[in-house]
Amino acid sequence: MKKIVGIGVMLLLFLTFMVSCGGSSEKTEKTDVDFVGQNLITVGFSQVGAESDWRNSNTFSMQNAFTQEEGYNLIYRNGQQKQSNQITAIRMFIQQGVDYIVLAPVTETGWDSVLGEAKDAGIPVIIVDRMVDVEDDSLYTCWVGSDFELEGRKMASWIKNYTQSIGVGSDELHIVNIQGTIGSTAQIGRSRGLSEAAKENGWDLIAEASGDFTETKGREVMVDFLKRYDNINVVYCENDNEAIGAIDAIVSAGLHPGPDIKNGDILVVSFDGINKEALQYAKDGLISCIAECNPMHGPRVRDLIETLDAGETPDELNYVDERLFSSIENVKEIVVNGASYAVEGIGDSIQGIIVPKTEEEEVFVEEDKILLGDEQFDFYLPLLEGKRTALLTNQTGIIGNDVLNEQHILDALLEAGVDVTAVFAPEHGFRGNEDAGADIKSYVDEKTGVQVRSLYGDGDEKKPDADDMEVFDVLLVDIQDVGVRYYTYYISMYYMMEACANAGKKVIILDRPNPNGFYVDGPILEDEFKSPVGELPIPIVHGMTLGELARMINGEGWLSTGKNSCDLTVIPCQNYHHEDITRLVINPSPNLKSPEAVLLYPSTCYFERTVVTVGRGTNEPFCIYGSPYFEGIEDYNYTFIPESMEGAVSPPYEGQLCYGVSLKEKSMEELSEEHLNPEYLLKAYNDFCVNYPDKSFFGKADKKGHYWVDYLFGTDRVRIAIESGASAEEIKALYAEDVANFKEMRKPYLLYKDVE
Ligand code: AHR
Repeated sequence: MKKIVGIGVMLLLFLTFMVSCGGSSEKTEKTDVDFVGQNLITVGFSQVGAESDWRNSNTFSMQNAFTQEEGYNLIYRNGQQKQSNQITAIRMFIQQGVDYIVLAPVTETGWDSVLGEAKDAGIPVIIVDRMVDVEDDSLYTCWVGSDFELEGRKMASWIKNYTQSIGVGSDELHIVNIQGTIGSTAQIGRSRGLSEAAKENGWDLIAEASGDFTETKGREVMVDFLKRYDNINVVYCENDNEAIGAIDAIVSAGLHPGPDIKNGDILVVSFDGINKEALQYAKDGLISCIAECNPMHGPRVRDLIETLDAGETPDELNYVDERLFSSIENVKEIVVNGASYAVEGIGDSIQGIIVPKTEEEEVFVEEDKILLGDEQFDFYLPLLEGKRTALLTNQTGIIGNDVLNEQHILDALLEAGVDVTAVFAPEHGFRGNEDAGADIKSYVDEKTGVQVRSLYGDGDEKKPDADDMEVFDVLLVDIQDVGVRYYTYYISMYYMMEACANAGKKVIILDRPNPNGFYVDGPILEDEFKSPVGELPIPIVHGMTLGELARMINGEGWLSTGKNSCDLTVIPCQNYHHEDITRLVINPSPNLKSPEAVLLYPSTCYFERTVVTVGRGTNEPFCIYGSPYFEGIEDYNYTFIPESMEGAVSPPYEGQLCYGVSLKEKSMEELSEEHLNPEYLLKAYNDFCVNYPDKSFFGKADKKGHYWVDYLFGTDRVRIAIESGASAEEIKALYAEDVANFKEMRKPYLLYKDVE
């Protein structure tokens, strides 16, 4: 489902990493990093999230096992319980060329393709904790974790033995199950353990619902269960955090959690045995039994990696032994599948390893905001150490789009001691206040003393010159794009990438969301229609971030220097998906003055240089359009007079009354449904032609016979179709194949979950 989101304002320093894709797209060799003289093995660890104390202990165990002292460089990535985040993380590990990937998968299915990519790249994958369900088992090397179904069966056996011991019959049990994350091995196994036992014993399993392994959802689910059923006497919680939430709900409802179900108690059982509060509850009898789930997998995974590194083959499946705990002494032992298990008391025997959530993880759990590339200092500042750094940026380069603190990337870098030697300014200039296409001089920024080198300077080709390339070693790109082929920031990035590839300089993209990144539409640019408003063979709306597009430029060999010739690193955003429709809080250029204008821009920009103006010189450019020619014509009742202003010094029809259409009333939701909409242009064209049959709607053709609209469309096919009376559907059909092909072509370069 699409959601409209603002871009985050947080500064988080950890839990992220970078993507490198220079040199070669395939990883065949080990890339042990040299850290203070040591050869380290790099392990990319994609963790489920930080949903429970179990999970935090597990992360802690991994971080403790994979230290530099032990010879490892661990790249940890928190997936925030979302498979898409985990897939992005794995793709980035692959790009980065890690030595091993460790995956704690949130759910079992959906991993085939990304694990296939890891296999193709020659990176061994070790699965930890939950399992993956893939067609081809060779996609991973080995697995270590718990037997979740056995845990469930042990618990069911305890319930059976205990309730029998107090004389409660099978038909008297009314059980609810607060399940874990649906589709995770822990949920599947534990739920199966209970449901099978319910069938065997004739128990009444009243209801099951997911608490997602969290306290909050555990509470919510229990509140709901208590509202719906008044006979619950057993609550089976699939982890301790859910149990804590459920107990809170039970107590708040005036009921009593405990083992005395004959006298109205509600018996609560759970899994893990890692949470301090849950252990106390177990001692106090509020939780009657806990099945241990051991999270301390770090050393186990390290052993597996050591085995692999020694060229040996570890066992494919490695189960961990686990125990059962209860402070109720009635049941001393249970038997499952012929094996007996002791029930231990709750004492100091449970090694409850309590790992508090880090501040960053707390924020991550509570906030789901998009984190920009430029907020992730930890990952790019080290790459700038000792390097003369240049920036490609403008007024949008505000760290985290945090308009309250308003720290520009240039200031942030200088504050961090980075040697910034130049700023490259794109169209509209470093301050973003110059007219479209205007010539802008280079100058020295008064505040910082850094030289601002204009790529839109007088007479140049909008490319850096030899002198520009002398002054830096690394180029950092931090600029807000809008994802449209005729919006020129990507062209500046492309030219800079090419110059950097030529000069052997590194390029780092601090990625930002694409506010038009939720769809792909329009014809692919034909070579003949290359212009200052169209450089690459991509559709008008390409649905990629600058980081993704840079990867495509490199991977498709669009640089004259050849395929993958640019030493490129992308610092991706976190929590961004292509389905998100991001509202920009900083105007990306002087005539895109609202989030609505950003959505309309692909469709209303077609009017540029026709007899219709898009409202430059007003406060609503691209949200309105009109022309003096439309006076007295039905449907063109919205009037406006363009005036000279910053960013539109001499707008079309300056000082003249224009009659037109306002799209300002349309909501973001409505606009987002329209995609690239040829209807505005088509209707205006037809209405104009009826009233002015002798005049040219599209203005004058150039020497090649091309009109400006042809350069915008990237082809003359669309204009010709319009002139021959085509409908909007027929126009869209002209480029439907381009769109379908491009969607396929962009897949390998995506860093974020796609819409479809
Ligand atoms: O996969 C292990 C389970 O995940 C733990 O039992 C639960 O607490 C965690 O979130």
